[in-house]
This record gives sequence, C-alpha cells and structure tokens, in this order.
Amino acid sequence: MLSSKIETALNKQLELEAYASFLYLSMASWSEHEGLEGTAKFFYRQSVEENDHMMRILHYMLDMDGAPIVPQIEKPPHTFSSVQKIFEDVYHHEQKVTKAINGIVELAIQENDHATHNFMQWYVQEQREEETLMRTILDKLKLIGEGAQSLYFIDKEMEEINQQIEKEEGAGEG
Ligand code: FEO
Repeated sequence: MLSSKIETALNKQLELEAYASFLYLSMASWSEHEGLEGTAKFFYRQSVEENDHMMRILHYMLDMDGAPIVPQIEKPPHTFSSVQKIFEDVYHHEQKVTKAINGIVELAIQENDHATHNFMQWYVQEQREEETLMRTILDKLKLIGEGAQSLYFIDKEMEEINQQIEKEEGAGEG
C-alpha cells in the first residue's frame, strides 16, 4: 500500500524517466543523422535504460497496489547545436533526476515507508553512476575542444566508451 504522497511522487518520477528516454532517443537520432555513430549508439542505449527505469517504477507501484499513471510527455528538442551542448544538457537533466530521487527517499522517510525507501536505493546508486559517467564524458569533450576536427575525435571517444560499457555489462552478466 502506498500513501497518496508517495504515489504522486512516483508518478512524477515515471514522467521524468519517460522524458529522459525520449530526450536521449532524440539525441541518438540527431547524432546518427549527423554521422556520429558512436554517439548515437551511446544514446540509443541510454534511452533503453531510461525506459527500464520507468518500467521498474511502474511495476513497483503495481506490486504495492498503487495506481501508476502512464505520463503524457513534453516533446523533446530534435536539433542540437553541438555534442558538447548535448552532454551539458544531459548532465543537467541527470542532476534534476537525482534531486527528484533524493526527494522521494526523503518523503519515504517522512511517511515511514520502508519498502519505498528500500526500492529507491537502486536509483540512488544508479544516479551516482550516471552523473559520474556524464561528468567524465564532459571533461573529455572539453579536452578535445571544439575545433574543426573535433567531431571525429569525439565520436571515436564515444565508441571507446561504448566498448567499455559493453565490457562492464558483459562482466556483470558472467
Ligand atoms: Fe533514470 Fe538517468 O535517470
């Protein structure tokens, strides 16, 4: 059983995760159109992950006899001025998500809701990892710079990051 406050907060979180999934899909699509295959691959994966974050919440709410509301989402931007700008936006969006997650954890404590508090710990860890990843990428992009040749090197770097993530995911499955 979820309190109405927790139910409202989780429904709001469904919306944030769904928006992130579509925002990253839009970034993937733009990147592929620009010929940035490594960057596109990175964002297609992130988009699927965000959808998974949304689905976890939806199923948790149902397990707790709550009433998830599949959200209406705002249309994400479909053109972007640069890869650097994309990652700045992503980093800010992830910070916003982290703030919302912390808010739900705080609310779960206030409502004495141990189940939700426990459930949200996975998200606390996930946000820590995502913020670190995005900050690392932003730092690398700053080093590469924005000169004429930079897109080639950025995309090459993104491909290396994809391979690293795939290796880690593979190790996690074994
Ligand atoms: Fe599910 Fe990246 O927030």
